[in-house]
Amino acid sequence: MSQPGIKILTVVGARPQFVKAAMVSRAIVLHNREASGRPIVQEILHTGQHYDRAMSQVFFDELGIPDPAVNLAVGSGPHGETTARMLEGIEREILARKPDWLLVYGDTNSTLAGALAAAKLHVPLAHVEAGLRSFNKNMPEEVNRVLTDHVSSLLFCPTQAAVQNLANEGITEGVHHVGDVMYDAAIAFGEIARNRSSILEQLGLKPKGYYLATVHRAENTDDRQRLAGILDGLNRLANGIPVILPLHPRTGNCIKAYGLEEIAGGLRLIEPVSLLDMVRLEQGARLILTDSGGVQKEACFHGVPCVTLREETEWVETVAAGWNQVVGHRPEGIVAAAAAAATPSGRIREYGDGNASGKILGQMLRQDLRCWHVTQP
Ligand code: UD1
Repeated sequence: MSQPGIKILTVVGARPQFVKAAMVSRAIVLHNREASGRPIVQEILHTGQHYDRAMSQVFFDELGIPDPAVNLAVGSGPHGETTARMLEGIEREILARKPDWLLVYGDTNSTLAGALAAAKLHVPLAHVEAGLRSFNKNMPEEVNRVLTDHVSSLLFCPTQAAVQNLANEGITEGVHHVGDVMYDAAIAFGEIARNRSSILEQLGLKPKGYYLATVHRAENTDDRQRLAGILDGLNRLANGIPVILPLHPRTGNCIKAYGLEEIAGGLRLIEPVSLLDMVRLEQGARLILTDSGGVQKEACFHGVPCVTLREETEWVETVAAGWNQVVGHRPEGIVAAAAAAATPSGRIREYGDGNASGKILGQMLRQDLRCWHVTQP
């Protein structure tokens, strides 16, 4: 008799979630190929939080992620309104699809909407990248991740610090330190990017001959003074070596709205890039300056020092290991950190061995929390 399978409904919506879901999707394909365990059916629900081709479809094409079973197409808007539309749509899809697990990633509004929908319908929730904390409740991401962790059945932590953060909030059950799916992705796509991406040639860049920057966090883009400070700092660095800045649409809009085009004048602003091009740009950079969580770690995965354009980081190991400096938004601090950036040796073992996705799947298969039973033929 065939074993009962499990059905996972994966909720994604924003760029970094596509990358993380790609790694777990690969692990699902491998698991199903072995055919000795319980078969897994995965359906992907795209909330539509990111919708521009360069912010969404490009990732599905390039990373071989299964097409979404449904796209809620919520688009942009105020947080409450878009999160509510996602919640409504995800609830409807859970009721129709009857998954055994709802799987969410990270800390976006899509993550929170998935978590709330699952919790209300008593569907077991698995959270990848659980336990991260900036301790800054002004960040929408901090609110999203705290609330998601408190209604999750399985909490997959990338680091020991994340496990400890959860313990400090009284969450100890269902917590697993599995490593970082982004490290899995860095290993899986590092060599492919080196071979397939021609972005350095397209932009006329020499390895170690440029700085790479990204800026998209609301706390930076939605505050004129902070955004101006960051652009000023980057512009001062650009006075000798090119600074490449793939531009998130919100950042582009804010630069225009605040009239900061002149301050950004010395930077090379380019369209958002695909994952392989981003990885190639990261690999070749002399230094990376960013307010993204994922990019901070990708810098050290690819052996490049990082300057973080925020007041705090959830990825404290990168700082402790000497790869990352957290400097905020002031131009003088940015320039001084760039001058002081070092390249320590050794990798950060806590992020795992490149098989966080396999461990995540293993734990989900081991649980017997299923609310609806799906038997595969
Ligand atoms: C979201 C996440 C953030 C994550 C980031 C990854 C939340 C609260 N924030 O931030 O944690 O690091 O995704 O990239 O969920 N826009 C477009 N086209 C798109 C998508 C966005 O033009 O395809 C513009 C719109 O003006 C939109 C703005 O960008 O209002 C912000 O998009 P949103 O998804 O709200 O937040 P992100 O800054 O992308």
